[in-house]
Amino acid sequence: MLFLQIPLLAVLLTAGDKEDAFQEEISFKIIYSSSFYNHSWVKSGYSGWLGDLQTHRWDTNSGRIIFLRPWSKGNLRKEEIKELEEFNRALSIELQIELQRRASQWQLKYPFEVQLTAGCELHPGGAIVAFYRFAYQGSELLHFQNSSWWPSVQDEIRAQPMRRRFNQYHVANKIIQRMLSDTCPRFLLSILDAGKADLQRQVKPEAWLSTGSNPGPGRQMLVCHVSGFHPKPIWVKWMRGEQVQQDTQQSGILPNADGTWYLQVFLDVEATETSGLYCRVRHSSLGGQNIHLYLEHHQGSVGWIILAVMVPLVLLTALAFWLRKRWSHCERPANLLPLE
Ligand SMILES: *[C@@H]1O[C@H](CO)[C@@H](O)[C@H](O)[C@H]1NC(C)=O
Repeated sequence: MLFLQIPLLAVLLTAGDKEDAFQEEISFKIIYSSSFYNHSWVKSGYSGWLGDLQTHRWDTNSGRIIFLRPWSKGNLRKEEIKELEEFNRALSIELQIELQRRASQWQLKYPFEVQLTAGCELHPGGAIVAFYRFAYQGSELLHFQNSSWWPSVQDEIRAQPMRRRFNQYHVANKIIQRMLSDTCPRFLLSILDAGKADLQRQVKPEAWLSTGSNPGPGRQMLVCHVSGFHPKPIWVKWMRGEQVQQDTQQSGILPNADGTWYLQVFLDVEATETSGLYCRVRHSSLGGQNIHLYLEHHQGSVGWIILAVMVPLVLLTALAFWLRKRWSHCERPANLLPLE
């Protein structure tokens, strides 16, 4: 395994000296989530993720994997894909039956939500760590390690009894162990290589300013919007001179439909103290050329637009008047002549 990793890492890490090219850990994971509404109603789905990017979906009816990117298959062979589809289908059915049957014993209260997260993570040093976790209502209860399930919390009601039951699934646990230690690391490296161009693509952000809802008397909420960038790491702050404004608040970084990212950064200020404030955006795609958006320029720009439209308009009108006047001067004698 190590043999495989080192040359590939070298390729990944030297691919351009882009600062964000996998210098942090990156994982591939499959998330299975299942919502139990009542004793007879369950809704489940699988999705596959490479870092923040969704790469796979499952068609619940056919049980088939849907590959969302041209490179989502990585190096998976046909048989491996089929095995994965069958395993996931069986797991989903078994888990539903088991949880419905033992809901009262394990004190699972309807409606509830469970999640299985399986995957592996590549660390900058080249190590790959696999994981498989089971969560109930968003909190991890169990994890899989060395071929068996372990409790993640001290919990005699759910974690311990569930762990004992899960460990009785010998065949499934053997398959899980193989997938985690062999299939996942192999697949992760291959998909990172196959999707490299997509993952490392640099898309420049667009930024604009607005004022948000009035936060209080005499105050103003300034909003800096930054959208359409890739990759996800970004630095956006409200500044005055070289001073970062400490009250800068940031929204989460939200996905756009096209795989790029969007974010808002807020500053709540005294309405009289907005002068000199600007929004600074740093992003790997900008190649050191930060975006600076000045509040005055922004507000002033409307004035400039008006001026840009008004000046030619005034000049044109003046010209029209002058021409008319001149023309009537010239014409009058011509008109008058026949009368004379
Ligand atoms: C279970 O929940 C579903 C969805 O909310 C509902 O349509 C159905 O009638 C419920 N069934 C029972 C037996 O309560």
